[in-house]
Amino acid sequence: MKLRAAIIGCGGISRCHMAGYKALSDRVDVVACCDIDLPKAKRYAEEFGIPADAVYEDYNEMMAKETLDLVSVTTWNAAHCGATIAALKGGANVICEKPMAMNAIEAQAMLDTAKETGKVLQVGFVRRFGGDADTVLAFSKAGALGDIYYAKATYLRRSGFPGGWFGDLAYSGGGPLIDLGVHVMDLVRYLSGLPKPIQAFGVTYKNLGNNRASGGEQAWAASTAASKYKYDVEDFTSAMIRFDSGLTMLMEASFNLNIAHDTGNIELMGTKGGLSFSPKFEIYTDMAGRFINIAPQGNTGFDFTRAFNDEIRGFVDAAEGKAPCRAPAEDGVILMKMIDAIYESARTGKAVDII
Ligand SMILES: NC(=O)c1ccc[n+]([C@@H]2O[C@H](COP(=O)([O-])OP(=O)(O)OC[C@H]3O[C@@H](n4cnc5c(N)ncnc54)[C@H](O)[C@@H]3O)[C@@H](O)[C@H]2O)c1
Repeated sequence: MKLRAAIIGCGGISRCHMAGYKALSDRVDVVACCDIDLPKAKRYAEEFGIPADAVYEDYNEMMAKETLDLVSVTTWNAAHCGATIAALKGGANVICEKPMAMNAIEAQAMLDTAKETGKVLQVGFVRRFGGDADTVLAFSKAGALGDIYYAKATYLRRSGFPGGWFGDLAYSGGGPLIDLGVHVMDLVRYLSGLPKPIQAFGVTYKNLGNNRASGGEQAWAASTAASKYKYDVEDFTSAMIRFDSGLTMLMEASFNLNIAHDTGNIELMGTKGGLSFSPKFEIYTDMAGRFINIAPQGNTGFDFTRAFNDEIRGFVDAAEGKAPCRAPAEDGVILMKMIDAIYESARTGKAVDII
């Protein structure tokens, strides 16, 4: 029998989840959807063949009326916690988009509910499913990097505020740190053996605001961009995080910054070798007394469509007990603790211990 899936939050990124489910049409049917914007949910249902009587504006009502195995929570960040807990309690396995929640307290409540209900709770750390991540893990497993002790992670946009609720603290919980930094900070942890963060020092700036040349017009713009939202988040964050393994990570993320061009890169430096994702995937080491730069062949990049399809397939496999969850809620809680600590450090000017 096929699994029954539903979407909560019929916006931009939900379409990537939908594509992932459609690619598994022999195993999954998407049978219901929900959005507080009911006309939007109705249009969505029509486009994707969801029956008209299975369209909801209240996720509690949907969970009460439908029998569901899988739920994608793809709302804005402020609704992640409530929607996830309702879906878990309603008997579904859940994949919740990143950031897992507004803060670590909410994330912990979500994890606790997953444990109580015995359901899978996966966090939308889609970068874990890229060809670049797979390549790093393969080389790391083969010992090519040794112990990774320093990492640089950047997700910098010169002018890339996604618009709408993304700039409104009450809906987003923060700016580029919680929106973009979360991706690369998780990726560094994932690629370096999931060390435990112990301390963070961070700075945030609100110098450029959202008043930039191309805000809200890019491919990553929210489907809800509207003038009713405030812009009261930071536009740039830089942070240094120490881990129990001895790893230190330097992270930078911006919506707006006076730089030449957008950059997104992961650099890992280990005792035997280092690597960089950009401008091309390369591993740096030495052999026979010479420095060598190794360029692995095959899929070493990040393909958005492929990664989302793999992420959803991984979620469905985990829900069916066929494979362990590759982005478990425990890691989402740890990421939220890192984010909370960076914001607190930026507020207080002091390094903050992460417990
Ligand atoms: N993994 C990625 O690469 C990636 C990329 C973009 C966005 N995201 C994340 O996905 C989430 C959604 O982002 P988006 O760009 O799709 O935003 P969006 O504004 O396009 O869509 C969000 C939708 O959620 C709906 N919604 C809000 N509260 C709701 C509730 N209580 N019940 C039902 N629906 C509700 C809104 O009406 C809206 O239609 C965010 O958490 C964002 O951080 C992840």
